[in-house]
Order: sequence, then C-alpha cells, then structure tokens
Amino acid sequence: MLSETKEKAELTAQIIAEQKNTVILTGAGMSTESGVPDFRSESGWWRKIDPLTIATAEAVEENYTLFHEFYSNRLSALSDCRPHEGHYCLERWEKTGLVKLVATQNVDGFHQEAGLVNVEELHGSIQRFRCHNCGVEAAKEKFMKKSACASCGGKLRPNVVLFGEMLPETAWKRSMELVEKAELVLVVGTSLQVYPVNQLPALTRGKTAIINRDETFAETDFDLAMKGSAKEVLLYMDNYLKNAGF
Ligand code: APR
Repeated sequence: MLSETKEKAELTAQIIAEQKNTVILTGAGMSTESGVPDFRSESGWWRKIDPLTIATAEAVEENYTLFHEFYSNRLSALSDCRPHEGHYCLERWEKTGLVKLVATQNVDGFHQEAGLVNVEELHGSIQRFRCHNCGVEAAKEKFMKKSACASCGGKLRPNVVLFGEMLPETAWKRSMELVEKAELVLVVGTSLQVYPVNQLPALTRGKTAIINRDETFAETDFDLAMKGSAKEVLLYMDNYLKNAGF
C-alpha cells in the first residue's frame, strides 16, 4: 500500500472514531475482491457489452432472451461469491456505532450478507425479482427457469434499477438525508460515473474521502483521496481503529 494511502487512511479513521457519524457509499469496486466483476475498469462488464443493449427496460421488452441470459449468468456466477473481510470491517463499524449507513450501488446483497443492518440499495437488488409488467414479486427459480408472471403472464426480471429507470424513492431520500447530516462520507470502489448517485458526496456538510483503485477524475473534490484496494485499505483502517480502542 502506498505510504500516502496509509497516512490518509489513518486520518480518515481518526475522523470516523472522533465523529461517530460516517456514511459509506460503495460501488462495484467493493465486490471485485469477492470475485464479482465491476463495470468500467479493464475487466468490467461494460467493456464487453454495451449496457444500453442489455440493462434497459427496452431490453426486457424487445430482447428478453439476451436480457435473461445476462442476468441469469450474473446470478449463477454470484452464487459462488461471498463478502470479503472489507465487508466485515464495515459491519463491525456499524455495530460499534461508528457508521450510520451504507448506501450502495451494488445489487449483490453482500453488505447485508456480512451482517450490516443499515443498508440502502440505491440500484436495487439482483437477489429479488418481479414482473416487469404488473410488478408482482416472483421467486428466483421462476426467473431462472424463464417462467412467465403467475399473475399476468408478463416477463420476470431482477429488482435492479435499469438505465433510465427511477431509483427507489425511500432508499434515495434516506441516503440523501443521512449524507447531508454526516460528518464524513467515505466512498469505496466506484467510478462515480452514474447520476444521481455520483452527486451524493457533494451534499454532505462533513468531510469526504474516497478509496479507489483507478482514477475517477473526481479525486480533487475529496478531502482525502486514497488510491488502493478496498479490502486492503479498509482492513488497514480497521486495524488502526482497533489499536485506538474503537
Ligand atoms: N478496490 C478499490 N477500487 C476498485 C477495486 C478494488 N478492489 N476494484 C475496482 N475498483 C474501482 C475501479 O477502479 C472503478 O473505478 O471501482 C470502480 C468501479 O467503477 P464501475 O465499474 O463504474 O462501478 P460503479 O461505479 O459501481 O458503477 C455504478 O453503473 O452500470 C451501473 O448499475 C451499475 O451500479 C452500477 C453503476
């Protein structure tokens, strides 16, 4: 880990410990060390597939075979992946009262699987399903088997936010409210390319920090910008907090 990253990680951990009012915002870079591809870095999904041909309401309606293949493949791959130690650091920080909320763009459910209670899924969840037509909930196996909606015969889809769709209102409002009141917003593993989530950090009255492997070109907007691996830096911060009695 870069020595500059270590210094900034310690400064960030000090704010987390002193203020006990941190909101964490995560992206796909939080799950790559669990074996889940992200979207826009070298090995990301959108380097292979144009998202506008597959992650849209039009794809559900016009190209369901491709849509279903993409999401069922992601679900099958995800079933072999688990949260990593970095997810469990965030869970410990919630349990010890340091972190008030994890707002995530991720749909994998790893934060909840790691035991976090205060999680807002701003882009929905790939682990829950509904009918695209009537909205009735559906079971995973019905989606995986490409069954039609039991209620209206419509197409089943995961409960993720597709491009052009609205974010879940409650999740967005609660995330905005807690970010505004936070003393620190710590962003982990996101390119900050997608609106409106990329607007959240600037809404806080507190300090802002980011841990990211590649350049996001938003580093200068952050008080503390750390270049590095989510798992490694979170573990470093967790160790620092434990040594400081938190
Ligand atoms: N540690 C730190 N950063 C990492 C790691 C890691 N182990 N692995 C990847 N990253 C960084 C990458 O450098 C990249 O900048 O995480 C970022 C992930 O960015 P994206 O792939 O764009 O993912 P994300 O920002 O979450 O995308 C937002 O776009 O397609 C939509 O709905 C999708 O929620 C997603 C949204």
